Amino acid sequence: MAKFVINGGNTLKGEIKINGAKNAALPILAATLLADSPSVLRDIPDLRDVTNLCEIIKKMGANVKRSNHLVEIDPVGINSFETDKELAKKLRASYYILGVMLAKYGEARTSLPGGCSIGNRPIDLHLKGFKALGADVSLNHGIVEVKADKLVGDKIYLDYPSVGATINIMFAASLAEGKTVIENAAREPELVDLANFLTVMGANIKGVGTDIIKIEGVDKLEGKEHRIIPDRIEAGTYMIAAAITGGDVFVKNVLTEHIKSLIAKMHEMGIEIEEDISGVRVIKNGKLKSVDVKTLPYPGFPTDLQSQMMVLLTQTKGTSIVKETVWENRFMHVDELKRMGADITIDGHSALIRPSFLSGAEVTVTDLRAGAALILAGLVSDGKSKVSKIHHVERGYEGIEKKLASLGADIKRVK
Ligand code: UD1
Repeated sequence: MAKFVINGGNTLKGEIKINGAKNAALPILAATLLADSPSVLRDIPDLRDVTNLCEIIKKMGANVKRSNHLVEIDPVGINSFETDKELAKKLRASYYILGVMLAKYGEARTSLPGGCSIGNRPIDLHLKGFKALGADVSLNHGIVEVKADKLVGDKIYLDYPSVGATINIMFAASLAEGKTVIENAAREPELVDLANFLTVMGANIKGVGTDIIKIEGVDKLEGKEHRIIPDRIEAGTYMIAAAITGGDVFVKNVLTEHIKSLIAKMHEMGIEIEEDISGVRVIKNGKLKSVDVKTLPYPGFPTDLQSQMMVLLTQTKGTSIVKETVWENRFMHVDELKRMGADITIDGHSALIRPSFLSGAEVTVTDLRAGAALILAGLVSDGKSKVSKIHHVERGYEGIEKKLASLGADIKRVK
């Protein structure tokens, strides 16, 4: 099993380019199946989740061609409405196949989706949406099945602004009869990117980016070309890497409007941030101030940057509090960080972080973003760290060791 070996203490300097967003690429790959003709997608990151979803789509009969960051999908040969059982368990986003196939073919089946083990990950809101549009939903032996002779638009209030549920309902509603209104919808930029693609394909969607989305169903959608937005979570991770090592890094290909909450917190901590049209420069001089952070749906502070931010907070001169409100079990990195010397106390959904001297240790990744946090801790630790179970990290960060090494980090991937 591969590991990352990191010798901490190097200051990061230079320029780095951010890839297309994983969480936009996945639903947009699924969206291509709604069309009657091929689509071409650019800036698709080379990640395990993407490979697995492409495999799922291929096994359903579509023609998928992938080279570098370009993916071409021709959905014309689709002959199965079911996802491969083993592949579907490997990524949460396999549930997007449900909304897409239900909309296009009136039926779909998938095993209950996998992904990170960051808490109970129900799909009740997705299913509530499908039912409201007229689908029959059943769940037997871990397989979800949805069926409908005809989908008809309706008004759906989401009890929580779930990203996945909003997307799945958008899929189903895009080819339904009449108008669907999603209230308390998610507003994440990745969902807006998907809606832009669907609109170019011919869908009639209004209000995306607000908490009320209105969709007027259309008869058919056409395959189109689309470039995926930059990954704000990858960008945020490298911004934190720059700050934590006392560095000076220009993070290129970032839409700074997508990471305002992180920029605001970094400013509060005394980190210099220069926003530019093509990216953001992060410079850290002097001591860091402690801050409190609460994760929230967009535009609040992203839960996917919580663990990385927590590592940065161990390097301040005061005590900080991090409150996790999105996922119920997202402090699994804390035990591993403690092995490296982090002084963190968990109380329910809050973590109290005190200034800590980190020293290299052997640690194990428990989920994707926890893995990023452990790598960041390794960069600032005294001595050598060995980070194992890095397949979690490779679900979401393309070539992370190469990118960090190009900035001056001493990190190697070893077997
Ligand atoms: C997406 C992101 C993930 C991110 C999360 C929140 C992808 C592939 N993943 O996940 O990286 O951490 O948004 O920004 O885009 N919930 C329910 N019932 C449901 C659905 C969700 O109770 O039917 C709850 C979840 O348990 C969780 C919260 O809603 O507590 C947020 O989930 P959701 O926004 O759906 O996250 P995902 O779309 O799965």
